[in-house]
Amino acid sequence: MKILALVGSNRKKGNTTRIVQLIETRMQSLAQQHDTPLEFETIFLGDLDIHPCRGCRLCFDRGENACPLKDDIVSLRAKMDAVDGLILASPVYVDDVSGLVKTWMDRLAFVCHRPAFSGKCAYPIATVGGSSPNHTLRTMNAALLTWGFHLVGQAGFKMGALASPDEMERYEPEATKVAEALFRAVSQRHASRPALVSLIAFKIQQLAWQREPPDSYDYAYWDGRGWLANERTFYTGHRAHPIKVALARLLGAVIFRFVV
Ligand SMILES: Cc1cc2nc3c(=O)[nH]c(=O)nc-3n(C[C@H](O)[C@H](O)[C@H](O)COP(=O)(O)O)c2cc1C
Repeated sequence: MKILALVGSNRKKGNTTRIVQLIETRMQSLAQQHDTPLEFETIFLGDLDIHPCRGCRLCFDRGENACPLKDDIVSLRAKMDAVDGLILASPVYVDDVSGLVKTWMDRLAFVCHRPAFSGKCAYPIATVGGSSPNHTLRTMNAALLTWGFHLVGQAGFKMGALASPDEMERYEPEATKVAEALFRAVSQRHASRPALVSLIAFKIQQLAWQREPPDSYDYAYWDGRGWLANERTFYTGHRAHPIKVALARLLGAVIFRFVV
């Protein structure tokens, strides 16, 4: 099992890092108990050279290889492609994700058009001083869902300016829940049973890309994978219940017609 944790804080001994460490410790002991090899890698986004998106749209129009910014996003994307699960951990900055996380998200915006992470699990985590983490979690959820990830859950940790090491015990139960849920979801391949919201997101995208000019890059991507065929219900083969699939197709069509 390969898990990648992305930390969106420059404080390497800060709240967000400490929560990720709690989750890693718990996942390592679960892996031992279940005799499952676990590779857990933590990457600090602040250590990478990831420039802000220039808005040129070349990634949308001609593919991500046309992006003029040749920096660490390329190797990070390759790492994301190789893992089974992603923990996205951001401190709350002014009620939203940190700039490090937002810059990383913007550079992968083309994945909203060409979802590439189906079959992988994701768990967004927000640490916050005293207010609500919900808006930040919504920002992360929206990106991860549109990119095709299976969302296992979400967790917010209220920690003040900087929790002291002795206070960390308080956060162990919630961190354990995250570790257990992610470990279970990856081991039991929960991503092959997509949630209703994921099936709806697929349907909405399918209807949108069916209307794109056939010579566009996104159309070719969807068409090449067989995703534009009306009978296709998700990016990958799946084990979702047929009633859930039928409901998702209906709701997706209604939302596309009246809301999008
Ligand atoms: C620039 C900045 C903006 C922040 N904005 C908020 C905020 O809107 N609401 C809040 O409750 N805490 C806010 N905080 C506190 C952090 O969210 C909180 O302490 C977080 O756990 C810090 O994580 P870190 O130690 O990993 O950097 C902010 C902190 C900074 C540095």
